[in-house]
Amino acid sequence: MRDQSRWKRTSYCGQLRGANEGQQVVLMGWVCGHRDLGNLLFVDLRDRAGIVQLVFSSEDPSLLAQARKLGLEDCVGVKGRVRRREAHLVNPQLSTGEIEVVVADLKVFNQAQVPPFVVVDPPKASEELRYRYRYLDLRRPSMQRNLRLRHEAALRIRNFFHRHGFLEIETPFLTKSTPEGARDYLVPSRIYKGRFFALPQSPQLFKQILMIAGVDRYFQIVRCFRDEDLRADRQPEFTQIDVEMSFFHREDLFCLIEEMLAEVMDIIGVKLELPFPRLAYHQCLQDYGTDKPDLRIKSKLQDLTSARALRRVRILEQVLEAGGQAVGLLVPGGRSYSRGQLDKLAKKVQEWGGKGLVWIKKHEEKGWKASLPFSPEDCQELWKETKAGEEDLLLLTVGEDKMVHNIMGRLRVELGSEAVDLKSSFSCLWVTDFPLFEWSEEEKRLVSMHHPFTAPYQEDLELLDETPLQVRAQAYDLVCNGYEVGGGSIRIHDQLLQQKIFTTLGLTPEEVHQKFGFFLEALRYGTPPHGGIALGFDRLVMLLAGENSIREVIPFPKTTSSLCLLTGAPSPVKLQQLTELGLMVTKAKAEATDQERN
Ligand code: AMO
Repeated sequence: MRDQSRWKRTSYCGQLRGANEGQQVVLMGWVCGHRDLGNLLFVDLRDRAGIVQLVFSSEDPSLLAQARKLGLEDCVGVKGRVRRREAHLVNPQLSTGEIEVVVADLKVFNQAQVPPFVVVDPPKASEELRYRYRYLDLRRPSMQRNLRLRHEAALRIRNFFHRHGFLEIETPFLTKSTPEGARDYLVPSRIYKGRFFALPQSPQLFKQILMIAGVDRYFQIVRCFRDEDLRADRQPEFTQIDVEMSFFHREDLFCLIEEMLAEVMDIIGVKLELPFPRLAYHQCLQDYGTDKPDLRIKSKLQDLTSARALRRVRILEQVLEAGGQAVGLLVPGGRSYSRGQLDKLAKKVQEWGGKGLVWIKKHEEKGWKASLPFSPEDCQELWKETKAGEEDLLLLTVGEDKMVHNIMGRLRVELGSEAVDLKSSFSCLWVTDFPLFEWSEEEKRLVSMHHPFTAPYQEDLELLDETPLQVRAQAYDLVCNGYEVGGGSIRIHDQLLQQKIFTTLGLTPEEVHQKFGFFLEALRYGTPPHGGIALGFDRLVMLLAGENSIREVIPFPKTTSSLCLLTGAPSPVKLQQLTELGLMVTKAKAEATDQERN
């Protein structure tokens, strides 16, 4: 009987290299493949650092027989010697591909049931299976890499803020709702029946109160909770890098965050160009049709509303006369687009709600080719106006201002992403000067574009009563590769102005008192000028990892329908628990919810 009780691991599987040749090693990990050549058996062993090839030979028949019984995902330990592979057997795909480990002893810690899917990169299983068996999914090397990246990023961020004099301070999870535009997750109070805590959508009010408390520089890597419709870049619980400072200028904050990001991006060897460009919200919409432009794509939208050539084509003229806008986009090299490709684009535009897509390009024999009957002179005029080149394609659409910008913005990204290699390049910008309010059709009232604690520009204060939609906010978003990575603002530090903003938002004095009385009171005790920002940590790590969804960088994510498939949450609770909380679930509601879930 071999003594296997005192095995001590000497290295991770994935760390072994040619330099370890001849060493005796003890490895622990999971079986992730085998090839049986009769008198030789190769087994791949995986741990968090990578995969190494183990060799069992007929020199030790009992060991070979034992190894033959190994199944995928069995958890084992081996003792063996590192051997250099013969040149023609080197596997350049594997970081350990120069060597293999000739096994002398094997210990099976725990056999695995036949796994529901093979643990490989890229994953072949459906998302549902992957989330249900997340512990298997997380064994994939790319997921291990993402977990490590997340850890490394958090560490650098903590060290960065510590170096700059920030304190990490925890704020409560059981708290009162802070509006950030989503629904709250509520937690019933057992002691005060009929009353609820809310899980924080962000620590907004606490961080402002910390400024009133004289903390001066606060940060926190903190979980936030929002009950909202989910997408690839949204989860109901997600993590923010939350920051607040007193007595500073906006530029100081921009510089600080840029430096922090540069340090984080350095993890993957990307050098960010600093400072980031700044673009006012309205300009951003004009140029890119979105407030989160992807600046890796260089093209800009062009306003062609006053182009006379368009007015000479009847159907365009009708829309423009009725107050419509014309927005154009040049596609460099787009002259080669086939009729089929152009028809597909036009169909997309219609799906997005547009009336149609107009296109014009040069043609060798006919001079010009276009989707509408433009004269050659008109084409020439548009060519000059848009500064188009010989090989370009001009796309344009007409209609309501917001809609046409939105459509052409989407088209810009769609065509731009095809044309440029977007992998591993980064382009960030600050979007500034958002409107303080926007009109909510749903609620039929003004709502804050960021949140109600955002300071308006001093010079716009006089517009508050008459034309509140024209008031600009001292707010800023940080956009990276087309994602909103962060948002923040200079805050209102005057109690009267804060009260006025609540009133403009249509809150009654009773509502203000009930929801924000404690905060308005705090503002009265010597509030410093302050402001801050919160960055979406999951989105940042997603960009670092080159993933398309934050679910790939969150260890235990929810599905798009807000379920945790691993644990089955949310789940029903015992009647006794409900009674203790003074709650009752109406039968019809419970059944309906069950049906929806099934
Ligand atoms: P905001 O609501 O813009 O601002 O949030 C800041 C950043 O958090 C990320 N984020 C999310 N990430 C994943 N899933 C979600 N559901 C989600 N919601 C937001 C985004 C976003 O830019 N209190 C303010 C900040 C401040 O003013 O200082 C706030 O929370 O990347």
